[in-house]
Amino acid sequence: MNTKIVKLTEDDIQNKEQIRAAGEIIRNGGLVAFPTETVYGLGADAWNPQASRRIYEAKGRPSDNPLIVHIAKMDDLGRVAKRVPEGAKKLAARFWPGPLTMILEKQESVPLETTGGLQTVAVRMPGHPAALALIEAGGGFVAAPSANASGRPSPTRAEHVAQDLAGRIDMIVDGGAVGIGIESTIVDFTEEIPMILRPGYITAEQVRDVIGEVRVDPGLSAESEGLRPKAPGMKYRHYAPKAELILVEGAQQKVEKAIARMAEEAEDAGKRVGIIATDESCGKYPCGIVKSIGTRTDEATIARHLYGVLREFDEQEVDLIYSESFRTPGIGQAIMNRMLKAAGHRVAEV
Ligand code: TXA
Ligand code: MG
Repeated sequence: MNTKIVKLTEDDIQNKEQIRAAGEIIRNGGLVAFPTETVYGLGADAWNPQASRRIYEAKGRPSDNPLIVHIAKMDDLGRVAKRVPEGAKKLAARFWPGPLTMILEKQESVPLETTGGLQTVAVRMPGHPAALALIEAGGGFVAAPSANASGRPSPTRAEHVAQDLAGRIDMIVDGGAVGIGIESTIVDFTEEIPMILRPGYITAEQVRDVIGEVRVDPGLSAESEGLRPKAPGMKYRHYAPKAELILVEGAQQKVEKAIARMAEEAEDAGKRVGIIATDESCGKYPCGIVKSIGTRTDEATIARHLYGVLREFDEQEVDLIYSESFRTPGIGQAIMNRMLKAAGHRVAEV
């Protein structure tokens, strides 16, 4: 299959010609990758079971891992969800369009192929203008996982989508680099007390401020101890680079010393070593391929570059990556969640 790549400027979104063509592919059962404010998604008609199956095929995704249904209008929530609890209405009013996904009881009409066999459905209204325009053009209900091959880091640029899926999907809408860089926060409203199944740009604190009591899935932090996260997709070793990734935690100076020493030892043993540092610490490492992931004075930059840096190390074919860690209360929670998964929970405490 020949994958068409179309570049979109702000003007193109207004003109709608490209978007109309992309929407037509979706309405005809095809697959279109498109930018959202979090990561690129791989979209298909959410009502079409055949189209959903094609998503799983293109990604090599396990069929029990449900897709998120993306909508462009508040009123469409009721077409997908059987009941919308008060808390969900409040969160939607506060954060949609935006990086928030909610799990709700599904309407009968939502195909089980889209929900991975579950009676619940994930719904999100994304905040990216191209995404909203495409959803409307595609019929209003677009099922979309992240547009990476299963197991690879999520794509934050159209080039990343092409690396993984060129030849396997109909079209890639190239809207440039995304703004946030990690996937949406998932809040599950099918539990008695709403529960965060995946941390993201919207923090647990922000959710609590709007709806009061919220739990965080205990399976997220205890994953290494054998407890399963509730979101099927959170159990896989996901977001992973090809090289072995080791997170180094402790006081900053000790971390820098330890990484420098371990990198030197590994190079002496003939290995190609990557180091994930920040603008502040980049100059502190005498050996290894050193990349800055962003600045500690603005954590959003770290989230934005995380997956891109992992992909760059793949291209440079390093054997081993040592990374500083970024454990802080805000978006640091989401960053560390993704890094720990990418590292397969390999952490060196210093
Ligand atoms: O930011 C995002 O959410 C991006 C963009 C494209 O919107 N999408 C995304 O989709 O990250 P995906 O498929 O890579 O991740 C969806 C996650 C998976 O972990 C999946 O298991 C979980 O949502 N999920 C979907 N439906 C669910 C359900 N009914 N119950 C529990 N978890 C669900
Ligand atoms: Mg994904």
